[in-house]
Amino acid sequence: MRAVDIIEKKKHNMTLSKEEIDFLILGYTNGEIPDYQMSAFLMTVYFNGMNSEEIANLTESFVKSGDSVDLSEIDGIKVDKHSTGGVGDKISLIVIPLVASFGVPVAKMSGRGLGHTGGTIDKLESIEGFRTDLSPDEFINNVNKYKMAIVGQTANLTPADKKIYALRDVTSTIDSIPLIASSIMSKKIASGADSIVLDVKVGSGAFMKTIEEAEALARTMVSIGKNLGRNTIAVITNMDQPLGHEVGNSNEVMEAIKVLKGEGSVDETEIALAIAANMCVLGGAFSNMDEAYKGLKESISSGRAIEKLKELIKIQGGNPNIIDNPDLLPKAKNIHPIKADKDGYIYSIDAESIGIGAMLLGAGRKKKEDPIDPAAGITLISKMGDKVSKGDIICQLRTNLDEIDDAMEKVQGAFVIKDEKPKTNPFIYNIIR
Ligand code: URA
Repeated sequence: MRAVDIIEKKKHNMTLSKEEIDFLILGYTNGEIPDYQMSAFLMTVYFNGMNSEEIANLTESFVKSGDSVDLSEIDGIKVDKHSTGGVGDKISLIVIPLVASFGVPVAKMSGRGLGHTGGTIDKLESIEGFRTDLSPDEFINNVNKYKMAIVGQTANLTPADKKIYALRDVTSTIDSIPLIASSIMSKKIASGADSIVLDVKVGSGAFMKTIEEAEALARTMVSIGKNLGRNTIAVITNMDQPLGHEVGNSNEVMEAIKVLKGEGSVDETEIALAIAANMCVLGGAFSNMDEAYKGLKESISSGRAIEKLKELIKIQGGNPNIIDNPDLLPKAKNIHPIKADKDGYIYSIDAESIGIGAMLLGAGRKKKEDPIDPAAGITLISKMGDKVSKGDIICQLRTNLDEIDDAMEKVQGAFVIKDEKPKTNPFIYNIIR
């Protein structure tokens, strides 16, 4: 086999075999195929796409390129969830204990944040003592005993995807649905779960800017899951503005606690319940969505859900007292208000700008090796549709930095105030099964 012949075939929009895809992907990963040939291949995929069998084969090649997590020693149907990334997205912190409170095993592997979106691991590490480096044995034992555990991603998961993603970044081939879908799903498949619920976000802070794009990505990922024997459901959710009121690490933990105590904002509560209900049904805890919703709401109102988060924190070495006293979480020394510059309604809040603002305050990192400040973040006092008067505080910036002009400018620019009320979209657009 020769790489040039495979590129030629895709250039003419012909279907590639599993062997040809393996040859290209595994050959590129071990350095036998050069960047220039992989770049040409990626561009042919960008323009000609791939059919569902090719996409499933591409995903499997990514998985084969590295290690896979073996969860076979965990009893029951292991469910995982994945978000395509948003601003203020603390849904994982909410659904892990919520789903585990019904005995459904959640063995979660999560990443760190990069750029304008935060990572679940960073958020949890804002809790004093919380360990995300569990050994494989600890991870499996905790899931068997407590039905939940979360660890940072291991280094050698899907190395082909890592190498190809870096090349896509510099060859303008990121925004290709077959490439995005196989990249995301390969990491989920390699993480070992039996069933997967995907939270595909759409809007100003999301990767997908339109519902059509989000649905196309969701359908492709669900099809990969099915082709590779994983029950997969995608929930398309709204990211027109940041989720909830808090963006940052410790303040997002604080907000997740509120949701699990039944005091959360409606957007986060509704989206978390939808993701958790699908996970519970896939995990066999409930036979239908109505029963699942009823059970989940009861878990929150009875205090079972928040007790489960307390347990998760305790078993992973964190200070469980933060549940009863969130003031124990790291706090920034400075709080700077952002004020409305006119009367009117909050018409839009650009989520990406809020995410970048939070990063500039120290809550996120531009490069992988950058340190982050767990206390830094942004509190949105006003959200879309709220009526404000000139001079009202609409947002607060939390930081330990002294020089924050860039962040102030970014966040102030994220808010658009108009005389008319904005049209509001639903929190959940669609569910693809
Ligand atoms: N996230 C991923 O993991 N891969 C992509 O290609 C895009 C987003």
